[in-house]
Amino acid sequence: MRASERRHPCRFRLWSAASSTGAEAYSAAMILAEAAGTDGQLDWTILGTDISTRVLDEAMRAIYPCDQLDPVPQDLRARYTMSGRGTKESTGVARIVPELRRRVRFGELNLIDPPYPVSHGLDVIMLRNVLIYFTEAQQQQVIANIVGHLAIGGWFFVGHAESMIVQDHRLAQIAPATFRRKGD
Ligand SMILES: C[S@@+](CC[C@H](N)C(=O)[O-])C[C@H]1O[C@@H](n2cnc3c(N)ncnc32)[C@H](O)[C@@H]1O
Repeated sequence: MRASERRHPCRFRLWSAASSTGAEAYSAAMILAEAAGTDGQLDWTILGTDISTRVLDEAMRAIYPCDQLDPVPQDLRARYTMSGRGTKESTGVARIVPELRRRVRFGELNLIDPPYPVSHGLDVIMLRNVLIYFTEAQQQQVIANIVGHLAIGGWFFVGHAESMIVQDHRLAQIAPATFRRKGD
């Protein structure tokens, strides 16, 4: 194939804001890795942020008790987690494989302290189960700040108990807890 015929990879950026220990970010990573396949045409990366450095340290270690991985389908668990010394069964823990860890970055970020040092034009932002910790005024401010980082047509997810909080005119509700950024 000539260089002029080579397609540029499609970029896909996801932000897990309030990522906690990284379960959400690595679950999304498994799905994106599956979607990307092996042809290199989907260049995906994930950013996980949280206010707590304790949970971020755990997220970066990417080691989880096997029972926490139980809800992950068996074929994905087999492809994207690995055991250290001994088997997953004997140690009771498993680690996310390096191929996924390489594409998932974590950093400290307080949602109540904008501006956020995060790229704009993101394809997906997950802001799940954290709005409940904020006052009403803080909730609307955080949503407004977050939506500013979303691409037109980008997807925004909140927790199932949080849909009613989202009232930003730039968003269309698609399903419970699921929103999409409208054109400006
Ligand atoms: C209940 S967990 C939700 C984790 C994940 N999003 C989920 O749904 O499973 C809430 C997370 O929000 C983080 N958090 C609380 N206040 C925050 C703030 N002001 N900025 C960023 N993260 C915050 C906590 O440290 C915690 O990890």
